[in-house]
Amino acid sequence: MKIGIIGGTGGMGEGFALRWCINHDVILGSRDKQRAQSVAENHMQTIKNTSFSEKLNGSIRGDDNLSVAKDSEILILSIPYENIQSTCKDIENIISDDCIVVSPIVPMSRNEDGFYYIPFVDGKKSAGTLVAENLPHCNKIISAFHTISEVKLKNIESSLNADTFICTNNKDSLHILNSLISEIEGLRSIYLGPLSLSYQAEVLTPMILNSSKQNKLKHPGIKLV
Ligand SMILES: NC(=O)c1ccc[n+]([C@@H]2O[C@H](COP(=O)([O-])OP(=O)(O)OC[C@H]3O[C@@H](n4cnc5c(N)ncnc54)[C@H](OP(=O)(O)O)[C@@H]3O)[C@@H](O)[C@H]2O)c1
Repeated sequence: MKIGIIGGTGGMGEGFALRWCINHDVILGSRDKQRAQSVAENHMQTIKNTSFSEKLNGSIRGDDNLSVAKDSEILILSIPYENIQSTCKDIENIISDDCIVVSPIVPMSRNEDGFYYIPFVDGKKSAGTLVAENLPHCNKIISAFHTISEVKLKNIESSLNADTFICTNNKDSLHILNSLISEIEGLRSIYLGPLSLSYQAEVLTPMILNSSKQNKLKHPGIKLV
């Protein structure tokens, strides 16, 4: 499967690429094609220095964000919340009708009290809702991965031992993402409901970060037991 990651040069992009390149072709997107290519080469070197090198059936390469959007069967929007509108505007007429678009985006900021969820404080929309509004022709939008620590995702020798909460209006497209989630060791997919509930998953991230900071916990995640 061709997996594209817009903003794939960031930390989450690295984690997704390292985990999924074992079985799939991953294309890292950037506003700067050369940067994407150089980051992709580094990640391929990283994989080759691990025990996964013998099992490698896929690849990681880099390209500009628009080419990535055009070529992908599943497209992860791994970008800051503030850039949803401009990025969606650039890609909305480029992505294929069947493309599954995934938002791990968390609208979060920090003040003197700690991390907070922007929509509750500033009256803005959840990331899942904003992506759907800005990609009106895409009917396969899925919100996921908000509570996964970048550090743990990048450490491919370790199991995540965590859940990820999923929202979508198109349950028929979920099996494809669920299959990718099952390839990340120790990660379980928990379906929450339609995209209108995405805020319930997104809001957990500032909560986790405040808990981590106040209690000196190292990259905690969430699991329903
Ligand atoms: N980090 C975590 O542990 C974590 C956990 C859960 C969810 N998330 C969410 O996942 C998403 C990605 O996280 P991240 O930590 O990887 O993000 P990041 O490093 O801050 O940014 C990812 C990429 O976004 C691109 N970008 C930056 N400014 C942009 C702009 N103005 N317009 C378009 N693209 C821009 C950059 O790529 P180029 O400069 O190469 O274009 C950057 O490498 C975020 O929405 C975050 O809230 C993060």
